Amino acid sequence: MQQKIIILDFGSQTTQLIGRRIRELDTFCEIFPYNKYPEDDSDVIGVILSGSPYSVHDNEAFKVDLNRFIGRLPVLGICYGAQYISNTLGGKVEKANTREYGRANLHGFDAGCPLFKDFVPDSQVWMSHGDTITAIPEGFNCVASTADVKFAAYSNYVQASSLNVSPTFAVQFHPEVFHTVQGSLLLKNFVVDICGSRKEWSAASFVETTVEELKKQLGNDRVILGLSGGVDSSVCAVLLNKAIGKNLTCIFVDHGMLRKNEFNKVMDSYSSLGLNVVGIDASEKFFRDLAGVEDPEQKRKIIGRDFVEVFNVEAKKIIDARWLAQGTIYPDRIESLNITGKVIKSHHNVGGLPKEMHLKLCEPLQWLFKDEVRRVGYQLGMPENLIKRHPFPGPGLAVRILGDITPEKVRVLQEADDIFIEGLHSWKAEDGQSLYDHVWQAGAVLLSSVRSVGVMGDERTYENPVALRAVTSMDAMTADWAHLPYEFLAKVSNEIINKVKGVNRVCYDISSKPPATIEWE
Ligand code: XMP
Repeated sequence: MQQKIIILDFGSQTTQLIGRRIRELDTFCEIFPYNKYPEDDSDVIGVILSGSPYSVHDNEAFKVDLNRFIGRLPVLGICYGAQYISNTLGGKVEKANTREYGRANLHGFDAGCPLFKDFVPDSQVWMSHGDTITAIPEGFNCVASTADVKFAAYSNYVQASSLNVSPTFAVQFHPEVFHTVQGSLLLKNFVVDICGSRKEWSAASFVETTVEELKKQLGNDRVILGLSGGVDSSVCAVLLNKAIGKNLTCIFVDHGMLRKNEFNKVMDSYSSLGLNVVGIDASEKFFRDLAGVEDPEQKRKIIGRDFVEVFNVEAKKIIDARWLAQGTIYPDRIESLNITGKVIKSHHNVGGLPKEMHLKLCEPLQWLFKDEVRRVGYQLGMPENLIKRHPFPGPGLAVRILGDITPEKVRVLQEADDIFIEGLHSWKAEDGQSLYDHVWQAGAVLLSSVRSVGVMGDERTYENPVALRAVTSMDAMTADWAHLPYEFLAKVSNEIINKVKGVNRVCYDISSKPPATIEWE
């Protein structure tokens, strides 16, 4: 049976990060909303309680019945999780005199505590809480302190061992974040040493078991898959191809708002991978339906609707298809994102096939994080250019053209974008990697509703600006603007203004997410 760590999500922004850190330890984990602890936990080897935007004293604070697992399984409470355990088992949590945010150092810790095995003195940790634990429950001991936080960590591991029950650990800092320098070590101590993970989750084992499962699940059935050119759907296609070969038909719709030459480039890559791909040029329909539309949400809705229509027409031609495969990945599905999340933009991917087609859904990547999808891609021998491709929104350049969309505006933006992206590929950073590989995502935005005056030669120009956007991120939930070298920005800005007719000004977007978003629309 596959071992599993459960993360109960109390709404913290870093819950997914805990999940990723555990997967990096070659251990499978699943994130559940705080109130959905599974009935059957026979495959669970440990439980982690995440942080939360709430205080344990708030009326709306999320609660869980600790009796479901405490003492039966090893438990690690993080931040709110630590405070919740203390508050529930008879300790005390109060408003901190000074808000405890940012860097701190563990000036004292219990070297015998298995959670702190191999920790160095004064290890840096990251705090982020307004409440603090002022008393811990009976049977627990303080196992680490900082200058300001007495109970930075506490545990009952001594008592648990004498009672022969599973130990509980609680830390008020965040081991999952980069700034907790030995955070990965702490999680390894918990997951591997304390919970006993056999570290069996790897790209190779995933490919092997998934291909076997797909063969069993799909038998000799025909499967349809919508390709986008992005890494998720491409990896999904190659995985399915390995399992069922010619029974897979992929559909790649060109809505006319892809990057310069992207449709042909991607079609070539797919055919060299031996995939059976039907390419559809539906750009005329999309341009027609988008004519005169300026509102971002309206544009997204039209593109989503048209996409489904075009896809359905093609899918129906494959008359004996039984399955629709999708490259859905884990972060797309985590129910807990809805605990506090609100819809900012409607994201449209493939979906909404007519019910009469009776297609069953096949989502082989549904348990993977993005970086794991990439590792699976490498394991499958896919080319780097497909695996390392930046994420690209379903509606394409339509959400990077402010104002209404015309084929001419798309052409102008494609040219500017191409100069920027090719520039990122060819500029090597100090570590020898390209700037393209350093950033999470990049692209150009055409501010077509704005015009400004410029001068070229002796001529006055009155044209549009282009904004360049490049961000660093772990998962697109939060992002920072990429600090690209000035020399690089100077070079691409010059090249864009000189070569792209219709553009006389280039700006660089220095907004982070939040408060901005990655795409402009
Ligand atoms: P935002 O702009 O919300 O974008 O910060 C977060 C990430 O999602 C991508 N994105 C989309 N992806 N369909 C997609 O498949 C969409 O409609 C869509 N809109 C935004 C965006 O490029 C970024 O990676």
